[in-house]
Amino acid sequence: MDDAIVDNNADNIASRPTPLYCEQLPTSFDPALGRILVTGASGYIGGRLVPELMARGYKVRIMIRSFSPEYAGRWPGAEVVVADVLSQDQVKKAMEGVDTAYYLVHSLVLGPKEFASADIEGAKNFREAAEVQGLKRIIYLGGLGDVRNKLSPHLHSRAQVAEELKKGKVPVTVLRAAVIVGSGSASYEIIQHLVKRLSFFFIPPWARNRCQPIAVRDVVKYLVGVLEHPAAAGQSFDIGGPDVLTYEGMLKVLAEILNKKVVFIAVPFANIHFYAYITSLLTPIPDPITECLMGSLNNEVVCQNEKIKELLPFKNVTYREAIVLAMTREEQDAVYTRWSDAYPPAHELALKLKELGEGPTFVASYSLLTAKSAASLFRSFCRIGGRKGWFYGNWMWRLRGIIDRLMLGVGDARGRKKYSGLNINDVIDFWRVEDIQQDKTLLLRAEMKIPGRAWLEFNITELGTQRVLSTTAYYDTHTFLGSAYWYACLPFHYFIFRNLIKQIEDKSLVS
Ligand SMILES: NC(=O)c1ccc[n+]([C@@H]2O[C@H](COP(=O)([O-])OP(=O)(O)OC[C@H]3O[C@@H](n4cnc5c(N)ncnc54)[C@H](OP(=O)(O)O)[C@@H]3O)[C@@H](O)[C@H]2O)c1
Repeated sequence: MDDAIVDNNADNIASRPTPLYCEQLPTSFDPALGRILVTGASGYIGGRLVPELMARGYKVRIMIRSFSPEYAGRWPGAEVVVADVLSQDQVKKAMEGVDTAYYLVHSLVLGPKEFASADIEGAKNFREAAEVQGLKRIIYLGGLGDVRNKLSPHLHSRAQVAEELKKGKVPVTVLRAAVIVGSGSASYEIIQHLVKRLSFFFIPPWARNRCQPIAVRDVVKYLVGVLEHPAAAGQSFDIGGPDVLTYEGMLKVLAEILNKKVVFIAVPFANIHFYAYITSLLTPIPDPITECLMGSLNNEVVCQNEKIKELLPFKNVTYREAIVLAMTREEQDAVYTRWSDAYPPAHELALKLKELGEGPTFVASYSLLTAKSAASLFRSFCRIGGRKGWFYGNWMWRLRGIIDRLMLGVGDARGRKKYSGLNINDVIDFWRVEDIQQDKTLLLRAEMKIPGRAWLEFNITELGTQRVLSTTAYYDTHTFLGSAYWYACLPFHYFIFRNLIKQIEDKSLVS
């Protein structure tokens, strides 16, 4: 009996081991710290901080932009509040009864043109709301970079957010980090996809700038440590790991770990837009984000002070160890948060299939009758996507992913966070789980670039002693282009989906 699929109820999610890093911290739980608000809880860092705070005994309130059932079960005991930092009223409400707030909001997904103004407005609202609600402290994680030099728009914006938060009466603790390395972190995903896919690299001059990467577990330790250390209030700390490396050096370490022969060729051509675009095609990180992140490679990001080490002494993880730990997590199928799962922006705000007033414009359904059990069929279709492929016509799915990347969409490189189960909001290549009901339904929402909205549903319906296994494609559009797209795809749908359900049925066990 294959028991790989974990169901989606709260008990199962809650009983999954969450990585805890703070045991060796020199500080300890302080009940006087009261209620802690974690913003950006759906993000990469926030998602790792919440379980740590809860395990230490803190009353935690998580702030998300739109409610999703995922959060009710993900951290049982945490309060969930829905608020957008761009609305000061919502943030004020979210801060009622809060003592300390983590500011882990980042609008990078809005792309190079919009993120900076959104981030500064959010920070201003947050500061003003914190004053009204009498918060005792704000803790902000921003970016490293010497503010005396010309910083990239991304690093400049991170520094501006720190300045904006500090303008108020509430003491702010600022932590500044460079590249954060951990399973699912943007930097790790970029580096590992590049090294796995390429055998030679062009090295422009900026790739020899220095960087001080830090392991995600050490970032979480510092975030918790400064909360528990009163002397950290109102202070700014640079946090980094023990190694200072060039970006070229970072690629080389990963190639060594993978035992892969890679050739590095120094070139004078330094246009970052070009390298960012190529990187976006080869990695799960879309172009607007690679543009923002790689724009910062022109700056050296090395700690300018080490005072955090006096306040919170513990042994930091090296860059090599951080990479090995991230790979191990992937091998164990135990990645907890992934940066790429947060893209596209505000996925929770996307219109759901059941919210379409008049239903989708087009529907195409393919089904078969089977005697296999619902549990077995459900397990079978929940294995779809990622490195295991799409049961049938993998090359066509891959081609669709490549076309999407060329159009600056998410493509299929995001894969899956894990293969042992699915939850609402999990990413599967260019899809996202919108609904999942044990032994019954899996509904995926498309996040690729299409002239409309698309969903793909797998469903099991009992019919006497047998059951109907169906795949249904839903498509909603009100444009000519959208309709043309649907009709152009229909012949492919016919072959792909009919064969897809046959394969799902074949690969499910008789039980
Ligand atoms: N990850 C790194 O490698 C790294 C390195 C150095 C510094 N940092 C710093 O660490 C902090 C957290 O980064 P991260 O990697 O965790 O970011 P992330 O994964 O991109 O998450 C950003 C979070 O901000 C939320 N958000 C965006 N706009 C919002 C709004 N208007 N109102 C409320 N929430 C909003 C997002 O919510 P939705 O899910 O609703 O979009 C998401 O939870 C940032 O300040 C970043 O500069 C990160």
